Amino acid sequence: MAEIVSGKLSSVLNGHSCEPPPIWLMRQAGRYLPEYREARARAGSFWELCTNAAAAAEVTLQPVHRFDFDAAIIFSDILVVPHALGKAVSFEGGRGPRVETTRSPVELCRDAGIWAERLAPVYDAIGRVAAALPKEKDLIGFAGGPWTLATYMVEGGASLDQAAAKLWAYRNKESFGELLGIIGACVAAHLCAQLKAGATVVQLFDSWAGGLSETLFRDCVITPSRRIMQEVRKNVPHAKFIGFPRGATQQGYLEYLEATGVDAISLDTAVLFAWAAEHLGGKTALQGNLDPLALVAGGEALRDAVHRLLADAKGTPHVVNLGHGILPDTPVENVAELVELVRSTR
Ligand code: CP3
Repeated sequence: MAEIVSGKLSSVLNGHSCEPPPIWLMRQAGRYLPEYREARARAGSFWELCTNAAAAAEVTLQPVHRFDFDAAIIFSDILVVPHALGKAVSFEGGRGPRVETTRSPVELCRDAGIWAERLAPVYDAIGRVAAALPKEKDLIGFAGGPWTLATYMVEGGASLDQAAAKLWAYRNKESFGELLGIIGACVAAHLCAQLKAGATVVQLFDSWAGGLSETLFRDCVITPSRRIMQEVRKNVPHAKFIGFPRGATQQGYLEYLEATGVDAISLDTAVLFAWAAEHLGGKTALQGNLDPLALVAGGEALRDAVHRLLADAKGTPHVVNLGHGILPDTPVENVAELVELVRSTR
């Protein structure tokens, strides 16, 4: 069968190693860009940017135009899913996101028609970006993993130890499993719709997958992620997945890969790239894992990190990225230098 997608990122996800490797950055549209801050001021707020398709499409394209990244990632947030499930979400100046808390799975909306209505601006924005993007650039759709979304929904926002979600999972395995199931169904529907709207790749962000016991990692990260990918692949057979179980142990990354069969695994900064190339590299493409702070620091630290990464990744299908999202105080000239370093190093 002919391959449906043609970008450099897709090619790496199909198992080909590219030189120079494709590059994009998690959170590449954001506060470190003056044009983003201006668009956000015009829209009124971050959440309004997420829900206005024309504004979201514009902001999605900004970093691609400025840095010539190999992929765009649709401008949205993982918290659009709790919103689709009927929970209020707000972002108020610097305090991080607030999510109306969930105490029982019965509180959540299970109507897929309503989910689609609430998530429609994302699909509209994807259609606009797909129409504007050169065909050699990929368009990445995304969603949060059910575990990470559950931590926000149960805690009411970000937390240091995710204690409320872990306690629920330990005290009432069955109802927590039901909660993950409903979130997972909405995530799967959201990813399918993004692929149908024009995304060529989707990434599942499980940002709080670190520090979990073996049992919770299996039950709350691996199992729900595997179900989502199975469901999406059933509906959209060409779906390409990047998985990001951030902070997992080496054993955890390996088990996640074996259980889900992701096309690429995104590594956080703490993972030794040479270990990953040896133990994961033959089975999937690797994405990552520059330190976002090395990108803030720039200069020698950045050059060293890039040269080491490219040397460790040589011959392995690899996508250059950070180990986590780009930081708001990153100098734009360091990002331009990073792209130049990746494209000029042999
Ligand atoms: O990568 C991209 O450019 C696409 C856009 C994107 C955003 N959030 C935009 C955003 C993506 C992929 C996300 C994912 C996301 N959102 C995650 C998973 C990835 C990760 O970083 O761990 C999580 C946990 C969230 C939840 C979320 N949204 C938080 C914790 C915050 C506050 C962070 C902060 O620095 O204030 C947000 C807000 C948010 N999402 C911003 C952006 C650009 C900043 C909003 C602003 O002030 O303009």
